[in-house]
Amino acid sequence: MRKSLIAGNWKMHKTINEAVQLVTAIKRELADYKGADIVVCPVYTALASTFDVLMDTDIVLGAQNLFWETQGAFTGEISPVMIKDAGCEYVIIGHSERRKYFNETEETVNKRLKAALAVGLIPIVCVGETLEERESDKTESVVKSQLEGGFKGLQSIDVLDVVIAYEPVWAIGTGKTATPEQAQNVHNFIRQWVKQNFCEDTADKMRIIYGGSVKPDNAKDLMSQDDIDGALVGGAALDVGSFCSIVKNCTISL
Ligand code: 13P
Repeated sequence: MRKSLIAGNWKMHKTINEAVQLVTAIKRELADYKGADIVVCPVYTALASTFDVLMDTDIVLGAQNLFWETQGAFTGEISPVMIKDAGCEYVIIGHSERRKYFNETEETVNKRLKAALAVGLIPIVCVGETLEERESDKTESVVKSQLEGGFKGLQSIDVLDVVIAYEPVWAIGTGKTATPEQAQNVHNFIRQWVKQNFCEDTADKMRIIYGGSVKPDNAKDLMSQDDIDGALVGGAALDVGSFCSIVKNCTISL
C-alpha cells in the first residue's frame, strides 16, 4: 500500500519568523501523526530555521526548486547539495508557476530531476494542463509530453521514490478544484504511463498526488480515489487549521 503524502507548498509567503511560527503550530498539532508523510516547503530563506523546529519530528522539509549544477558562478541559484545541507528531503520540480513565469521547460525539469536524484532528494515533479488545453481535449497529450520530457533518460530503479503531482493549472489558486473523477482519470493515466515506460512495480509503488485548491472540505473525496495518494497544498497550507485538517481528514490514523 502506498503511504499518503501531504505536502504544503508555501510558495513566496512567510518571513523567517512567520515560517517558524507556522511550523511550530503544525508541529504541535501533527508531531505524533503517523498516518501520512508530511512535508512543508517554505521559501529558501526559512529552510534552516524551520528545519531546527522540525528536527525532532517526522515532519520533513522540502524546497520549492533547485538548480542542477553543484556549485559555481550561477548568481541567484541554489544547488541540490545546498538544499540537502539546509535539511531538505524533498524538492518540488517543474511547478506550473515556474513553467509560466520562469521559462521552465521539459528539458530543465529533466535536468533538475536528475540532479535531485543524484543527491538523494525526493523530487515532487509537477504536471498539469491549462484550462484551454483541457477544453480542447488535450489534457492527456499535454501531461504525456510533460512526463516524456521530464523523465527522459531515467530508469525504473531511479524513479521509484519520485512523486508526481498532478496540478491542473486552472485549479491552482482559483478555488476551482478538479472533481474527484476528473483527478482520478488523469492520475490513472499517469500511472499507466509509468507502467508502460518503467514497470508495473514502479507504477504500483509511485505516489501520485493532487494539487489545485485542495481544502479541508474537498480533500477527503479527492483522497478516496484509487490513484490519488496525497495532496500538494498551496493556499490552505499557510493556515495551521486548514493544513492540519487536510492531513487528518484524508489519511489514516495509525
Ligand atoms: P492552491 O492549493 O493554492 O490552489 O495551490 C496549489 C499549488 O500550486 C500547490 O503547489
